[in-house]
Amino acid sequence: MRFKNTLFLLLIFSSSSILSGQQYIDDLGSEFHKKKRQEFREQMPQNSIAFFFTAPIMKRSNDTDFMYHQDPNFYYLSGWREPHGVLVIFKDDQQDNNGLYNEILYVREKNEYREMWDGRRLGLNGAKQMGFDRVKLRSNFIKDPFQIQNFSNVLSMDVRDDVRDFKDDKYDLYDIQNKFLEIIDDKEELSGLGDIKKEFKNSSVNNIMSSLRQTKDSLEIKLLTKAIKISSLAQIEVMKAIHGEMTEREVQGIHEFIYRKYGAAHEGYNSIVGAGANSCILHYVTNEDINIDNELILMDLGAEYRGYTADVTRTIPVNGKFSPEQKEIYDLVYESQEEAIKKAIIGNTFNDIYVESLEIISRGLIKLGIINDPKEARKYYPHGVSHHIGLDVHDPGSRTLEKNMVITVEPGIYIPENSDCDPKWWNIGVRIEDDILITDTEPINLSEDAPRSSNEIEKIMKLDSPINQLILPDIND
Ligand code: GLY
Ligand code: MN
Ligand code: MN
Repeated sequence: MRFKNTLFLLLIFSSSSILSGQQYIDDLGSEFHKKKRQEFREQMPQNSIAFFFTAPIMKRSNDTDFMYHQDPNFYYLSGWREPHGVLVIFKDDQQDNNGLYNEILYVREKNEYREMWDGRRLGLNGAKQMGFDRVKLRSNFIKDPFQIQNFSNVLSMDVRDDVRDFKDDKYDLYDIQNKFLEIIDDKEELSGLGDIKKEFKNSSVNNIMSSLRQTKDSLEIKLLTKAIKISSLAQIEVMKAIHGEMTEREVQGIHEFIYRKYGAAHEGYNSIVGAGANSCILHYVTNEDINIDNELILMDLGAEYRGYTADVTRTIPVNGKFSPEQKEIYDLVYESQEEAIKKAIIGNTFNDIYVESLEIISRGLIKLGIINDPKEARKYYPHGVSHHIGLDVHDPGSRTLEKNMVITVEPGIYIPENSDCDPKWWNIGVRIEDDILITDTEPINLSEDAPRSSNEIEKIMKLDSPINQLILPDIND
């Protein structure tokens, strides 16, 4: 027993990801974030200063907020997941009475009363433990002079258009940002000091952040792989469990329950679960149809695991067997995706993948008599085929592929009612989306666990699911 306790304590104190007093887990660890700040600094222009602001607390209604989600750039550079913070990074060492520094993290003060209601705040000590030498309370941000006029370039994420939180106590971020904007605007009045307002507006922050975030470190690939594995498992379980009496909402619930079961705290984006006509709405998120039997159902969902999000789509026949028309369209999208994935190699571009997928879809749609001219294909395949994934489901990054990028390959065909083709094709919408790791050699399909071919899908849909053992009482209304 005693031994067990000692081991337990050792485990707690030896883990780099759990800090005393910290109320969340950061698998990346402070060394990762510190390294990224240094990489950011190296790309900053000469004699520059950069400002990052935490994401706002967004009101849902009355006194209820949306779940807080940190701005991904802020998180990437700091590991900090609380609101009301500012990160300042300097290109060059600065000096004051306390010595040299090249970054400052401003954070919320601790507040016993608020912490009782809303959860712990890490405060200055917590921030220090996360690898910051210079930490200050947010109230200081307004007072600190910064000597903006001494810098040739002022970089910042764009805060002007953002809706920030108005309601925290007297040092709310809105005040802080207004003060910041005043500094920037005043600066413009001072002649001969460069076009700082322009620099502020057309920030190079996004370009630098994009160049850092587009290729993933091994730790990030590990987290992404887990998010994708969880999402793929959920697709498998739904394939086994789904039947004609289920609703779109119930299908969504099974996916999201499985995410939580495997430790994913969120969905990386609003879950898209659309049957029949709804499968033809690209980002259908209402998910409220209750009559789905005999339809194709398109399920585009992604677990967010420790901040990193998957983006996986499967389209399946609710009754377990594709109709001849559903199968024709499905197999065409599948063939297009199979060939497109092969193009996901170093040096190729998103466009190379897209052109490959479009050619196959155009040819197939002509063969099926749905279109007459390849130019018409875009009517039924109206979106791009690839984007990066990471901390954002649409992560920033170059359109030219490099090793350790993780991208989607997601062709689709959508034929809404009243389309200019035989009505037998109407209300069929198919997207197949997989998450692909770019390597030195072949692309690796990180979501390959979830069956993709029509045969494999029909086969797995015959299996029983543990979900079907969950029988709940009726609610009479
Ligand atoms: N789930 C959104 C997308 O596939 O891009
Ligand atoms: Mn996608
Ligand atoms: Mn998607």
